[in-house]
Amino acid sequence: MLRLAQILDGQLRGAMARAFPEAAAVAVAEGRPLDPQLAPASKPEFGDFQANGALPLAKPLGQPPRQIAQAIVEQLAADPAFAELCLPVIAGPGFINLTLRPERMTAEVAARLADPRLGVPTVADERGEQEVPSPVVVVDFSSPNIAKEMHVGHLRSTIIGDCLARVLEFRGHAVLRLNHVGDWGTQFGMLITHLKQVAPAALETADAVDLGDLVAFYRQAKARFDDDEAFQTTSREEVVKLQGGDPLSLRAWGLLCEQSRREFQRLYDRLDIQLSERGESFYNPYLPGVVDDLKAAGLLVSDDGAGCVFLEGVSGKDGKPLPLIVQKSDGGFNYATTDLAAIRYRLAAAPAGDGANRVIYVTDAGQSAHFAGVFQVARRAGWVASQVRLEHVPFGLVQGDDGKKLKTRAGDTVRLKDLLDEAVERAEADLRRRLAEEGRSEDEAFIAHVATTVGIAAVKYADLSTNRITNYQFSFDRMLALSGNTAPYLLYAVVRIAGIARKGADAEAGPPPAAALTYTEPQEWALIRELLKLDAVIAEVEEELLPNRLCSYLFELSQVFNRFYDQVPVLKADEPARSSRLALCRLTAGTLKLGLGLLGIPTLERM
Ligand code: ARG
Repeated sequence: MLRLAQILDGQLRGAMARAFPEAAAVAVAEGRPLDPQLAPASKPEFGDFQANGALPLAKPLGQPPRQIAQAIVEQLAADPAFAELCLPVIAGPGFINLTLRPERMTAEVAARLADPRLGVPTVADERGEQEVPSPVVVVDFSSPNIAKEMHVGHLRSTIIGDCLARVLEFRGHAVLRLNHVGDWGTQFGMLITHLKQVAPAALETADAVDLGDLVAFYRQAKARFDDDEAFQTTSREEVVKLQGGDPLSLRAWGLLCEQSRREFQRLYDRLDIQLSERGESFYNPYLPGVVDDLKAAGLLVSDDGAGCVFLEGVSGKDGKPLPLIVQKSDGGFNYATTDLAAIRYRLAAAPAGDGANRVIYVTDAGQSAHFAGVFQVARRAGWVASQVRLEHVPFGLVQGDDGKKLKTRAGDTVRLKDLLDEAVERAEADLRRRLAEEGRSEDEAFIAHVATTVGIAAVKYADLSTNRITNYQFSFDRMLALSGNTAPYLLYAVVRIAGIARKGADAEAGPPPAAALTYTEPQEWALIRELLKLDAVIAEVEEELLPNRLCSYLFELSQVFNRFYDQVPVLKADEPARSSRLALCRLTAGTLKLGLGLLGIPTLERM
């Protein structure tokens, strides 16, 4: 409906300019051309859209708004392209309600049936200039820390980040999916020192020791660090050696990273996530340049020996501006310095950088202040051109059923692998129960495939379907339920609807032409209107980075479909209603599939 809305917007603007040439000219000269204020209708009985632009003109024109609306509608009526598209009605004090003509909507349905993108344009289509490469969008997500626990927060970042990347890719942006792993912190000093003593072979030969649980070694090292001074000193020296490029330290570091990387990759494979690793260490050579730049820009201040930039508009308890520290008093750099170097690199034109014009960071809301500070400093340093968007996409905490931080029964941190295993096991148990109830028998390969797909989908969907800003309660029971706004419900809807479409497909060949489609029932129109929202929903997610909007849409669509299917015969209807309704089934199944795909959820043929 987005394209139709754009066409309508243009027609309304033209009509306003013709109805009120002087006012329009003045408005253009002032740089704020008359705006029809086109928006989706607030209620279905008002039609598809409403234009409220007549009301604010009442004062400057000295006319009642209804009269203004009338003049606009008269101009619209004189535009044959408009008359073919829409039916206008003036309502209330001067709103223009617009109802799309049925033939136009039917044509839209036919066009979508014949289009694998279901009518969603790419950014290049919109610009109408295929030749120009699409702007680069960086999505910085997942980003766990080497040797440290990869926790549910990283899982959320991974799932949400992947969905945003999929939506942006589908819209035709050149997306760089970056895994900003923490591979350069002080943890390596402790870890290397500890391993040198307890498992030296691990630092020299790959796979010499079973390092499967690097996290356990890290925990031991951390415990020693906290109460052994000599260990602390050696660890610090070890970090300096590593950052100074000592070949032995670098080799040990490389092996440790490799080990973690393999663990992470197993999870990404299970979740079907593509990521390019570009960890913090990548930016190491660029850190001194960041400090030099900030100095040159006159932003760097020395505070107790530390190099910092005082933030504008951010003050501490004492009312003094808060600093963003970029160089510690011992000369070392930190998380913020690395993020500044990363921004600089990502925004710099290729080949010296990524040439990005939008950078999206998916992390927990706890890092909001960090990103606000880093973005502000980057802007003040002059690294951020005016059209560039730097966006932090924060999300809330993952809580257990009890509303507290998610933990195992024994009180430990939940391992992500265990969490996914449990989702799949429960999905399998549910499936076996259902098969027994329905007296169906299926082979083990089928059961394994369905259980894996449903289990993983449930975890992803539960995360994506809540507004990411709020904390989210993790509940296997809720996410695996076959009813409600869940993955199993939607996956089941796809199977059922695609099945209906298939059943009726025998006599048909290819998508029907618009002329063959006829719709008469309100339930059909309600479904068509819902189907036609897809492009607007995707554009909204692209803009606002809220995957839950797409989830709500898919859920709503399947409900509108159910109403249609309950109340209107499909397979038993006479032609041409039968084929026309089957076409709606096909388009609904296709829309659900496409939407779930953008959420990172593959669909099933049967379940
Ligand atoms: N490694 C960080 C963490 O575990 C997340 C990194 C996010 N990305 C960034 N550019 N700072 O919290």
